Amino acid sequence: MIELDNVSRLFEGVAAVDGISLRIDSGEICVIVGTSGCGKSTTLRLLNKLIDCSSGDIRIDGQAIAQLDAQRLRRRMGYAIQNTGLFPHWTVARNISVVPRLLNWPTERIEARVHELLELLGLPHADFAHKFPSQLSGGQAQRVGVARALAGDPDILLMDEPFGALDPITRDSLQNELLRIQSRIHKTIVFVTHDIDEALKLATRIVVMDQGRIVQHDTPVNLLNHPANAFVESLLGQGERGLKRASLQRVAERMLPLQGTPPAFSVAAQDSLRQALSLMLWHRVGELCVRDNEGRAVGLLPISALLHGATA
Ligand SMILES: Nc1ncnc2c1ncn2[C@@H]1O[C@H](COP(=O)(O)OP(=O)(O)OP(=O)(O)O)[C@@H](O)[C@H]1O
Ligand SMILES: [Mg+2]
Repeated sequence: MIELDNVSRLFEGVAAVDGISLRIDSGEICVIVGTSGCGKSTTLRLLNKLIDCSSGDIRIDGQAIAQLDAQRLRRRMGYAIQNTGLFPHWTVARNISVVPRLLNWPTERIEARVHELLELLGLPHADFAHKFPSQLSGGQAQRVGVARALAGDPDILLMDEPFGALDPITRDSLQNELLRIQSRIHKTIVFVTHDIDEALKLATRIVVMDQGRIVQHDTPVNLLNHPANAFVESLLGQGERGLKRASLQRVAERMLPLQGTPPAFSVAAQDSLRQALSLMLWHRVGELCVRDNEGRAVGLLPISALLHGATA
């Protein structure tokens, strides 16, 4: 759906993006990760033509964006940024409706869309629609920023560190909301972060950038199992790799049939192996009872099951 073909962008003769080629399939969450200044934001801004390529081609659904009108292209793409960029003198509802207004949607459709999005992001319409950005907490403002990016029902969502300024708990809940929303609406999302844990949690595939180039483009599990070079290894944090991989794997994938009396302590089947390991360490036990959503005992997780089994 999105293809970059040998794309470069120079600033004053220096390449911020240096000959990158990339294909992002529709419905993916592609997360671009890398250290500060490696060209992540520049890559996003090339995609929505906030800046132009110095060389190379970008195609969306096979169409070269160089031939497309920048304003119209941007209306097809949601764009959420770290400091949210909300207009301070407009209400939340007005801020969210910017793109639908530009698209000349009928008033009733705009109102219904604002209502729907506020509810989707856990901001009740009655409480938030008429507030101004200065009356929101940072996390609420970021939710409004995400709602605004989704408002015109774009196929593509560009998100540049949208949760960057948040505390870990709010950040975790917004990440979960993004995954929940994505499981319902299937956008193509290009998400920039410098947080590798955020990348591992959200991504279908991760693009690791270093000095304007792509060093690796792979699934989270492959990245952990086969880092392309020392830079990717250091980004993953060598000592933490085992735990990071365990957090990508579900208890349900490793549990064994239940035999005899279930163990005293339980873990949910959809929890991660990392959570299971933590429970074992906390309770000082070597096995857990696995329970489904209804609380039924459905399996057994011995500590040995964490050591064996498929790594895919
Ligand atoms: N408008 C500009 N004019 C000149 N140089 C720029 C411009 N925009 C970006 N750069 C340079 O291009 C390089 C890449 O910048 P970019 O903003 O893409 O980095 P980034 O990966 O998003 O970093 P961060 O994690 O800090 O946001 C940097 O060296 C930056 O100084
Ligand atoms: Mg940036």
